[in-house]
Amino acid sequence: MLPRSVDTADVEGKVVLVRSDLNVPLEDGRIADDTRIQASLPTLRLLLERGAAEVRVCSHLGRPKTDEDRARYSMAPVREAVRAAIGDERVEVLENTRFNPGETKNDPGFARELADGCDLYVNDAFGSAHRAHSSTVGVAELLPAYAGLLLLEELRNLGRLLGDVERPFVIVSGGAKVEDKIGVLQNLGDRADAVLIGGKMAEDVRTDNPFTFEAILPVDVVAANEFAADAETQVTPFDALPDGWLGLDIGPETREEFARRIAGARTVFWNGPMGVFEWPAFAAGTVAVAEAVAACDGFTVVGGGDSVRAVHEAGVADRISWISTGGGASLELLEGKELPGVKAIPA
Ligand code: 3PG
Ligand code: MG
Repeated sequence: MLPRSVDTADVEGKVVLVRSDLNVPLEDGRIADDTRIQASLPTLRLLLERGAAEVRVCSHLGRPKTDEDRARYSMAPVREAVRAAIGDERVEVLENTRFNPGETKNDPGFARELADGCDLYVNDAFGSAHRAHSSTVGVAELLPAYAGLLLLEELRNLGRLLGDVERPFVIVSGGAKVEDKIGVLQNLGDRADAVLIGGKMAEDVRTDNPFTFEAILPVDVVAANEFAADAETQVTPFDALPDGWLGLDIGPETREEFARRIAGARTVFWNGPMGVFEWPAFAAGTVAVAEAVAACDGFTVVGGGDSVRAVHEAGVADRISWISTGGGASLELLEGKELPGVKAIPA
């Protein structure tokens, strides 16, 4: 059951506290990728259109611990970006919620501080919904709580993967560590028609398979004589790496097989790159998967920072059915866990 929507709230003349996930990547104090800001705007616009008197937007940014971090993770650039996008004086972006040490402890005192003077609360921070913090859970106990549009869209789209999927259902997984994705694959892998695994993760699965299903692993790799962008490379079968060489991407035969499986799918979930795609010499496998997922005309979902970046870099983002703004939150949801930020909102 979905939490009740902001769409059903009477916000006219009200002061609304909104929790968004404006935790964007920063580079030299600038916003390196504003996807999460853009994704948060529809809920803010809805509140303004419906006549909210005041919209107080709060979010965490980074994981500030020290005094230096307080300067680095000030909300100033985010506030500026929201102002530029919305340009309405009723919207105010509060300072980083994690500057208050109570936030991550779900301290009721900090929740009261946030709720003070507000009439209702809208949680739109899907990316933070797996955290039980003052701004995601505590305030929901103090104010009438509603789900924002992004939060609901994420739950609807990711939720489709948990329900009766259209088949074939293909999962593509990769990245550096099995541990990050093991829960999702244990929950969904048995229900998939094929699980394709690339990246470093494939090696882990080959040596110690933690799954009850048969994963499809790479038959060939792009091998490198050292871990470096300009390493010497050669394509080899996965089990014929020269001594001391490393497999840093899936090879052409594997790409073709993965693309063929994806092309025939009616539902695809992709999380995790096929190799060290930040380096052009090892990007082809991840790009091939991104293009195959885009070309698939079934329902396609991409989650996780690296794969999301890859679909943007491959220029195919607009051909993916749903790109999740959640990292840990989307994984926990697909693991079958209840998200505390969602649970705190009445249905
Ligand atoms: C994220 O980027 O995954 C969310 O904003 C949550 O951030 P956190 O892992 O620091 O809680
Ligand atoms: Mg498509």
